[in-house]
Amino acid sequence: MMVNRDCLALHMPRAIISARMIRDEVGLAPVRRQVGRFPKGLKSSEAPRIAKRLGSISGGRVLDVATGQGGFIDTLMNTLKDYESFIGIDNCTSYDSVEEMREGRVHFRGRPVEFLEMNGEDMGFESGSFDTVCISYALHHLDDVDAVLTEMRRVLRPGGRFIIQELYCDGDKTEAQRVDELEHEWCTKIDSLQGITHNTAFTRYRLMDFANGLGLKDLEVFDSDRPMDCLFCERNQLCEDPKNQAIFHDSIKRIDETYDRIKDYPDPEVRNRIKEEGEMIKKAIARSGSAATSYLFIIGTG
Ligand SMILES: C[S@@+](CC[C@H](N)C(=O)[O-])C[C@H]1O[C@@H](n2cnc3c(N)ncnc32)[C@H](O)[C@@H]1O
Repeated sequence: MMVNRDCLALHMPRAIISARMIRDEVGLAPVRRQVGRFPKGLKSSEAPRIAKRLGSISGGRVLDVATGQGGFIDTLMNTLKDYESFIGIDNCTSYDSVEEMREGRVHFRGRPVEFLEMNGEDMGFESGSFDTVCISYALHHLDDVDAVLTEMRRVLRPGGRFIIQELYCDGDKTEAQRVDELEHEWCTKIDSLQGITHNTAFTRYRLMDFANGLGLKDLEVFDSDRPMDCLFCERNQLCEDPKNQAIFHDSIKRIDETYDRIKDYPDPEVRNRIKEEGEMIKKAIARSGSAATSYLFIIGTG
C-alpha cells in the first residue's frame, strides 16, 4: 500500500481495489454486480464526476511533476481512458522524498512508469514533448510556483491537457476538515524546521489565478470535499464518520510519527511548543474527528 507523505493526503489509504471497479461505479463500463455502491458522502461529492471526466481523456505521454511516490500516477492509471506512459519527476531535496521515489519505483515495476530526480523549475525535456502534464497536492510545496507552472506549460504539446489537483484553505469546511487543516499547518512548521519547503495552502482565488495565468483553453474546475482516492479505498465507508475509531487511531499515530522527526531538534522551547500543539490537535481530533480537506481539480487544454 502506498502512503502519501503529505499530512492531508494521509487520510487516503491507497488500497487499490481495481481500475475496473471504479470505472464501473462512475459509469464508464457496464456495472458489475459485485461492486458495492459508494457511500453517500463520497457519491455526492465531486470525486466520481472528476473520475468520470478523466475517463474520457486519453493521457498519452504523461508527466507528473513533484510526484513523491507517484500516488497521482496511480489515480490517473485508474481513471484515464487510456495512456501510453508516465514520467514522474521530483527534486528529492529531503530524505523522505528520496525514499518515496525509491518506493515508487518498486510499486510501479513492470509498468510504463519512469521516475527521475529533476527540479520542476528547470526540466530537461524538449518543448511540447508531453500530451498531459499534471501536478497534485504539491503547489504549496514549491519554492517558486510560477517557475514550475511555466516549465510545465512549455513541455505540454499544443492541444494537450494540463491538470492541477490542489487543496485550498478557504471556503466552508466541516469541523473535522478544520482539524485536518490545523494538523497540516502544524506539519508545515515541522517541515520548515527541517529546512523543507511546505507552505500554507493557497486560497481558491489564488489557485484560479495560477490556472488563468497559463493561457489554457476550456478550463474546467471541480471542487470536491472527498479525495478521488476514496473511490478506490476498501475502507471508504469509514470516512463517512470522521469520528470513527480507525481514523482516530491513524491520526494519533501519524501525529506521533511526525513529531518524532524533530524530537532531537536543538532548541527545547521550540520542541516543547510543537509537542504541545500536537497534543492540542490530538484533543481536537478526539472532539471533532478528522477528514481530508477540500481541493480544486482543474483541467485545461494547451
Ligand atoms: C506532497 S508531495 C507530492 C504528492 C504527490 N504529487 C501525490 O499527489 O501523491 C510534494 C512533493 O513536491 C516535491 N517538490 C517540491 N519542490 C519541487 C520542485 N521544485 N521540483 C520537483 N519536485 C518538487 C517534494 O520533494 C515532494 O515530494
